Amino acid sequence: HVAVLDFGSQYTQLIVRRVRELGYFAKLYALEDFPNIGKPGAIILSGGPKSTSEPDAPDLDFEALNGFGVPVLGVCYGMQLLNIKFGGSVKASNRREYGPATLVPGESSGLYEGVSKNSQVWMSHSDTVENLPACAVVIAANQHGTPVSLKWDERFYGIQFHPEVTHSHEGNRILHNFLLTAGELAPFHIEDFKRELIEGIKQTVGSKQVVCGVSGGVDSTVLAVLLHEAGVNVRAIYVDHGLMRKDETAEVQNNFHRMGVEIETIDASERFLGALAGVADPETKRKIIGELFIDTFWDAVGDAEMLAQGTLYPDVIESASNAKSKASKIKTHHNRVDRILELQAQGKVLEPLAELFKDEVRALGASLGIAHDILWRHPFPGPGLAVRCPGDITVEKLDIIRECDAIFIGKLKEHGWYEKVWQAYAGLIPVKTVGVKGDERSYEWSTNLRAVISDDAMTADWVELPSQILRETSNRILNEVKGINRVLYDISTKPPASIEWE
Ligand code: XMP
Repeated sequence: HVAVLDFGSQYTQLIVRRVRELGYFAKLYALEDFPNIGKPGAIILSGGPKSTSEPDAPDLDFEALNGFGVPVLGVCYGMQLLNIKFGGSVKASNRREYGPATLVPGESSGLYEGVSKNSQVWMSHSDTVENLPACAVVIAANQHGTPVSLKWDERFYGIQFHPEVTHSHEGNRILHNFLLTAGELAPFHIEDFKRELIEGIKQTVGSKQVVCGVSGGVDSTVLAVLLHEAGVNVRAIYVDHGLMRKDETAEVQNNFHRMGVEIETIDASERFLGALAGVADPETKRKIIGELFIDTFWDAVGDAEMLAQGTLYPDVIESASNAKSKASKIKTHHNRVDRILELQAQGKVLEPLAELFKDEVRALGASLGIAHDILWRHPFPGPGLAVRCPGDITVEKLDIIRECDAIFIGKLKEHGWYEKVWQAYAGLIPVKTVGVKGDERSYEWSTNLRAVISDDAMTADWVELPSQILRETSNRILNEVKGINRVLYDISTKPPASIEWE
């Protein structure tokens, strides 16, 4: 495998991702773990926020590094550190170079084989290498002739820019060229990864019972099926908060049943809808749902021997500003309450997907035999339809949303557009407007259709759906859904709008 050593850069996990995209198995290691990094075929030192001249600058045992006898690539901070190790120096600076630069590869190609002459690369650093040791060869410079890439010997390479970010246009090729210098590297096959995961789970869990929450979403489904596949005594708990889509609970139950994993459904709709009655403020609604969800889930769990969570790699972050915080530190997010932290401290929390990116989780799911439809489901928010129903929530409103949504999603699927959009739904605008239905005047609510594309949910763009889909959806909703006399299409980007309405 390729070992990526984490010096704390915000881009470190991207290096892992790129290497895996290139088809090789990569793993991220915290510096504290060095040199316990198994038997890597190549090592990449990541960038980092510190300056090599700072007293507590991250360092590593060069003897040990050299002792692996494999190619080493230092990126940014990693390159500066290597330059020092080879007897050169680094110039500290408090001015940061951030943004695009032009790459001018030198004569001896190697890392830059096949890379075009004035390719854009992305810089993000303050320190730079100053004195080069006698052994160093400059293998690429920027447009001003400043060295941006070094080779100290046949195995040690350095790159000042960040080949792992997409703004470095030929970054993948450069990384690939480096990996080629390593000869035979272990390929990344999700099948092998699955086998390793299952072995690991068996060892950690033994005969203990493992509880996990399932929602019908991709991550929790893959998690539950993986545990099941590993022969674990798993209790999969599904909380129905009454804010699910049309027929969703039955579908989730069926899906799991077909996969041989029985789920325990907690029907808590009355409890949730009771607590939400008359509440119109979005934040209050979210708070009620969040707290009730946790209570309901933990009531059902009782005394858990172990808890499994579908945490993915992107949730596992290192913080650039905190030297102690490394990739193994988990970002605090909504489902990480005290109870979970307590279990975690006792080593009772299992997060088998924590090394995987979303697309890898899907590949894992497919190799576990999970149906394509389930793996490519749109994201659905924890608070469910509540965030698509502005103002207070009633069963009547929820039922209207369910009908409109089912029609819209059905049309997207029928026309082959469901998987072209990242997320889509119909919501409710509980404002009455005048219309005519038959011979009568109507005075009814509107539904808003929303379809967006996004990479990471942080930004989103609305989708120009074919008008035929919109027309057919609108016709059916207006004909079939009681209480709606107007269909609107939401053409707001995020920002400034959000994807959901609350
Ligand atoms: P917004 O509305 O913030 O949504 O643009 C971004 C993405 O996050 C989903 N979302 C949530 N997911 N719990 C979740 O698990 C939540 O409370 C929540 N709120 C929004 C939303 O569906 C979209 O994909």
